[in-house]
Amino acid sequence: MKVTELAKGVYWVGAIDWNLRDYHGYTLPGTTYNAYLVIGEKVALIDTTYPGFEGQMLDHVASIIDPVKIDYVIANHVEMDHSGGLPKIAKMLPGVPIYCTQAGVEGFNRHYDTEGWNFHVIKNGETLDLGGKTLVFLEAPMLHWPDSMFTYLAEDEILFPNDAFGQHIASSERFDDELGTDEAMEHAQKFFANLIIPLAPKVLKKLGEVTDLKVGIRMVAPSHGVIWRENAMGIITAYANWSNGVSKDKVTIVYDTMHGSTTRMATAIAEGVIEGGCEAKVCMLKDGRYEGTHRSDVVKGILDSKAVIVGTPTLQDEPLPTVAGFMSYLRGLRPGRLTQKKKGFTFGSHGGSGGAMRIVEDDMKKAGIEIFREPIEVYYRPDKDEIELCRRAGKEIAEAVRNS
Ligand code: FEO
Repeated sequence: MKVTELAKGVYWVGAIDWNLRDYHGYTLPGTTYNAYLVIGEKVALIDTTYPGFEGQMLDHVASIIDPVKIDYVIANHVEMDHSGGLPKIAKMLPGVPIYCTQAGVEGFNRHYDTEGWNFHVIKNGETLDLGGKTLVFLEAPMLHWPDSMFTYLAEDEILFPNDAFGQHIASSERFDDELGTDEAMEHAQKFFANLIIPLAPKVLKKLGEVTDLKVGIRMVAPSHGVIWRENAMGIITAYANWSNGVSKDKVTIVYDTMHGSTTRMATAIAEGVIEGGCEAKVCMLKDGRYEGTHRSDVVKGILDSKAVIVGTPTLQDEPLPTVAGFMSYLRGLRPGRLTQKKKGFTFGSHGGSGGAMRIVEDDMKKAGIEIFREPIEVYYRPDKDEIELCRRAGKEIAEAVRNS
């Protein structure tokens, strides 16, 4: 079995999940559950896998050392995609110290039968000397759950931040330079957009704390996707930029339609956006009736857009269910927590009293998007003047975006 070595005595021993296509509402081309083995005079296993994948992980460990030689388990995060192998490890290695946070202990106790597990609750900044390899533990609450922590390997300057800096991708490659840094960054952007946006202020705080440590970071080895070897500082900078809301002169228009009127409006708005000098991205939401864009891909595009415009017809006095569901998702992500705010407005058609646009507008406000103008609401089919109004609104928001 091919062994992936990050540095002398440091190995990737995770598992590849080639078949996963949906993870709590996020579409993905498979993923990896990264675990790492650090061998000094003593041996530490950092994280495990989703339940059912621990056999793959233990095969990888066994290709390097006998798994019974593991002296410590470092559990950076409770979520089952990283802790699912713990019951087997705890059974195989009775009494093995499991290093985690206090919130980690509480989380593990709610997930597994932990009777007999030997938890060691870390203090922020605590070290573990493996003999020639020193691990440093940093609490990282809410990155991604309250229990999360980072582990830093001092001699090799490798950061193991668990979910942070990860990407959902299943591939043969284990390093960013093998996969291609640009492709890795695209997957990292989607990961950030769908999981990390609401945590942006905590990301900035944690990046500041890591900077204050004044330690080198030669490699960032997350718990999903490829290891940042060529561009370790690049992904850290990208996290800072995304958290700060640094975006392009780009406007994302997201909508659904019943009979095409809202599509005509979206197209006219996009023409105005382009005329106004911005990149336009138009996404009709996918709802199973036809091809479109999945919400998890839409929010990836919103992350680097300065404006987001949402369109919906009115159905039974409400937005179309696709748009209502999308707005629920966007509200939860809270793009308003990014340092630089996004602008937006709503549009759509109706055949009765309308009203859906105001509901969507309220959702946009709750998501932290600044409302740029009144909704554009048309009765049945947009006429020539209304199409021109849409085009003009697109141009105006593009000009505002370029001047921001
Ligand atoms: Fe990859 Fe929060 O788990």
